[in-house]
Amino acid sequence: MFDVSDVTVRFGGVVALDSVSAQFTAPVSGIIGPNGAGKTTLMNVISGFVRPVAGRVAMEGQDLLRLAPHRRARWGLRRSFQKEEIAEDLTVCDNVLVQLDHARGQGRPEALRMLDLVGLAGRADESAARLNTFERRLADIAKCLVGQPKLIMFDEPGGGLPMEETALLGDLLLAIHAETGAQVLVIDHDVELIRRVCTDTLVLDFGRRIAFGPTDAVLSDPKVKAAYLGTEEV
Ligand SMILES: Nc1ncnc2c1ncn2[C@@H]1O[C@H](COP(=O)(O)OP(=O)(O)OP(=O)(O)O)[C@@H](O)[C@H]1O
Ligand SMILES: [Mg+2]
Repeated sequence: MFDVSDVTVRFGGVVALDSVSAQFTAPVSGIIGPNGAGKTTLMNVISGFVRPVAGRVAMEGQDLLRLAPHRRARWGLRRSFQKEEIAEDLTVCDNVLVQLDHARGQGRPEALRMLDLVGLAGRADESAARLNTFERRLADIAKCLVGQPKLIMFDEPGGGLPMEETALLGDLLLAIHAETGAQVLVIDHDVELIRRVCTDTLVLDFGRRIAFGPTDAVLSDPKVKAAYLGTEEV
């Protein structure tokens, strides 16, 4: 279980997260909400880029906020960003291997296994500069899968993808837990992707939790619909 409790973040006068709590127990959970709702900020708190003024983030008895960001990575935390982080001067495989602490020779079989999972095994030794947009996204995901991750967070993995690629991405997100054992958190604006892959979903609006629970129930909640229409809370 991944446990977020009473997390509050302020940027000057902006309350980006207002005492947000959620206990994520599902293999894949979603975080949704309008632009500026605080979704990325929550991932930034979990990964250590942003320090909350209050709150706790814990998994398997480990208080993550007590660990420096690089130690969170070593513990098993992974994330992707809204824009892919691919080094074009490296091969596809080496992009994945830079995530691993140990010698590259040792990590290669694991990197190839994860590249196979995302469908890029045949491209492992090509320059990453040759990848198209979707393939870059897949390579970015493969980077999150090596080194025995415990918690993997994806920030808008479906952003800008056409329908067919979004469907493939959905298959992949569903396969990650079975392959790695990691819990997965997904932020996305594509509600149909979230409905398909996320057992539970947290909805943020103006930094507040407005709903959390089974995805279908959450998506039919009038408060959630109102937030998406940009109207006042009902
Ligand atoms: N480093 C920062 N400094 C100041 N304000 C910030 C910072 N990061 C985020 N904010 C503000 O905090 C609020 C939440 O932003 P956040 O990026 O978490 O939203 P989001 O839900 O990820 O939105 P989007 O869907 O557009 O990615 C916004 O008002 C944003 O302007
Ligand atoms: Mg964001």
